[in-house]
Amino acid sequence: MKRFNEKVVLVTGAASGMGRACALRFAQEGARVVAMDVNRDGLEETVRKMTNPGRYMTASVTDEDAVKEVFKSIAHTEGKLDAVAHMAGILRSSVTSSTSVEEFMVPITVNLLGTFLINREAIPLLIKTKGSIVNAASTSSFFGHPYMAAYAASKGGVAAMTSTLAWEYMKTGIRINAVAPGGIATNMIKENPLEHLGTDVDYTLMEHLKRMDLPYGNPEDVAGVVAMLASEDGAFINGEIIRIDGGNHS
Ligand SMILES: NC(=O)c1ccc[n+]([C@@H]2O[C@H](COP(=O)([O-])OP(=O)(O)OC[C@H]3O[C@@H](n4cnc5c(N)ncnc54)[C@H](O)[C@@H]3O)[C@@H](O)[C@H]2O)c1
Repeated sequence: MKRFNEKVVLVTGAASGMGRACALRFAQEGARVVAMDVNRDGLEETVRKMTNPGRYMTASVTDEDAVKEVFKSIAHTEGKLDAVAHMAGILRSSVTSSTSVEEFMVPITVNLLGTFLINREAIPLLIKTKGSIVNAASTSSFFGHPYMAAYAASKGGVAAMTSTLAWEYMKTGIRINAVAPGGIATNMIKENPLEHLGTDVDYTLMEHLKRMDLPYGNPEDVAGVVAMLASEDGAFINGEIIRIDGGNHS
């Protein structure tokens, strides 16, 4: 399938996990991909693996000026923008009663403010091409995930922002959707074992989350859905948040 021939796609969080899988999938389908992340080494590897020419920009989604610069650069260099897969995100888990304001604000800033900045700057360019945004929500947007209060709040915000922006910009012809993955085997999961929370954690609370008999999904499982949402195949899908968890929250 070459649904993205002649299309320009920005992928955030493209140095790892689902962002990388999305970048590779869009390139495979013919897109010129601009890969964005804070991790330069990871970005270089992603661009090396892409089967269509693309480039990367090292920038944080929380840095307002840097985000503006990314979109300015795309307008200048590629001349247009057709889709954004906004996958950049961060997970922090902690026992809520001992979580500081600073700790609480980390996922809120990266996941929620980052989504606001990327969407705000993307919208004017996407209106010109009647393009599309796919944000990264989470099963924690809708279902309780103990010890992830800040993360879940940030992802609930991403889901709410997605629905709101879809409606707000509906008449412009752009579409804004999100994926809500749960349990995808990426660095995020590997780097945040709940075991580091120590003895204050009641692990039996997590049984319903883990459903250990179900395997984790792969980043490619998410990339396929993101590509569908961003393509003409998703032309009548707007303001939707698609759960991708193998049925773990059904
Ligand atoms: N893995 C899961 O089970 C899961 C479940 C639900 C939702 N998600 C969400 O999916 C998205 C992708 O996660 P993943 O599992 O691929 O994780 P990952 O850690 O493999 O990739 C996340 C990427 O985001 C980048 N990033 C972090 N902060 C950034 C910033 N400020 N600016 C730019 N880039 C930044 C990281 O460098 C990394 O490359 C995230 O938004 C995550 O919250 C993941």
